[in-house]
Amino acid sequence: MSRSAHPAGPRHADVLPEGHYTAPADDLNALDPKVWAHTVGRDADGVVTVGGIAVTQLAEEYGTPAYILDEADFRDRARAWRTAFGTDADVFYAGKAFLSRAVVRWLDEEGLNLDVCSGGELATALSAGMPAERIAFHGNNKSPEEIERAVRAGVGRIVLDSFQEIVRVAHIAESLGKRQPVQIRITVGVEAHTHEFIATAHEDQKFGIPLAGGQAAEAVRRALQLDGLDVIGIHSHIGSQIFDMSGFEVAAHRVVGLLKDVRDEHGVELAEIDLGGGLGIAYTSDDDPREPHEIAKALSEIVTRECEGARLRTPRISVEPGRAIVGPTAFTLYEVGTVKPLEGLRTYVSVDGGMSDNIRTALYDAEYSVALASRTSDAEPMLVRVVGKHCESGDIVVKDAFLPGDLAPGDLIAVPATGAYCRSMASNYNHAMRPPVVAVRDGAARVIVRRETEEDLLRLDVG
Ligand code: LLP
Repeated sequence: MSRSAHPAGPRHADVLPEGHYTAPADDLNALDPKVWAHTVGRDADGVVTVGGIAVTQLAEEYGTPAYILDEADFRDRARAWRTAFGTDADVFYAGKAFLSRAVVRWLDEEGLNLDVCSGGELATALSAGMPAERIAFHGNNKSPEEIERAVRAGVGRIVLDSFQEIVRVAHIAESLGKRQPVQIRITVGVEAHTHEFIATAHEDQKFGIPLAGGQAAEAVRRALQLDGLDVIGIHSHIGSQIFDMSGFEVAAHRVVGLLKDVRDEHGVELAEIDLGGGLGIAYTSDDDPREPHEIAKALSEIVTRECEGARLRTPRISVEPGRAIVGPTAFTLYEVGTVKPLEGLRTYVSVDGGMSDNIRTALYDAEYSVALASRTSDAEPMLVRVVGKHCESGDIVVKDAFLPGDLAPGDLIAVPATGAYCRSMASNYNHAMRPPVVAVRDGAARVIVRRETEEDLLRLDVG
């Protein structure tokens, strides 16, 4: 089990472990289905294929680096979440993990809703035809223009993040003659990271309104008094890359406690609770994520039990998985440029991308795996560090992994589980041009986000 705590939770806690690596897998050519998209395999020549297409062909047509996304897998995972939660609950895909117009259409077709957290994400969702009532708008500092756009469009909910925003959204909605459905995002004092969570009384972070000191209750009280707002529920998001459900248990307990206080004080039973996203995926073979149906069952049991205890009607549950849907569906395809053995240490493998297409290793000490993709090899394993081409020694894509000892320039290697927070956090550092996202399905490939060009870069530079 990978023990890395995920630092991108609410508090960005400094809980990173010592760097470590395990022994090489028995067969370096094997592709563990846990970390690879569903249709990934090898053809008779040993070349990795996805959706029936060889990566050598994809590299030739679309170049490298490239994010290769398995559309059938994306749809399967989206549908699995939708089915697991059934008709009594809602699944909002968190667009921050990766959003494009094709993705919006797939979500729409598969019956999922969409969580956006900026004007740009909202624009993408609307331009691809996602019905506004199926969009939730998040963010701790939405601009008045963003709020107005969301209210005018008729988004299904705005998630309010501060006292000031309660008033701001109410005024904007009222001035437009509307009553905006809203949830109030609270922080419940649960900080969840991978395999542990910490329950505290206070929460020192920028998102939401603390439950502590009666602040969340006060926020609900104020929101209920404003004509421009229709308070539909409470929102809580406790962290990222979580495997342990007990953090959700504590969070649900505390959210239901607030619902009870609201009922007792105002005689209002809020109809919805959103438990956020943060469900973990396998980045390496050591990770064991839960299936959507297990998560749905666990969450619904927790909420039902807590509500029975508080004698409340069970609210409608919603969740916001991003990583758990898109993360495993894509891999990044790179070409090896140099192979540099450092005596007694490890071999540095430089690829044609790096921290500009995957910042997660540098930022969170994230773990990834890697495979030789353009062929198989029976050479002895060598310990490698896969690095990019940027002018920075922290430009690491895969910190510790094993690749065949005959790896050479020109080989293609693939890093799985890069569907979430890689393209969406990509940068132009060193004037790198962000790679395309190529969707593959049933033997056909198409670009859904094209590669940036020098022209794109220079167009923004007005001289
Ligand atoms: N809902 C809310 C309110 C969130 O803040 C987030 C993520 C999600 C849902 C989706 O979480 P997911 O299911 O994708 O874990 N850049 C970091 C992750 C930051 C996540 C921030 N919020 C990373 O690369 O790991």
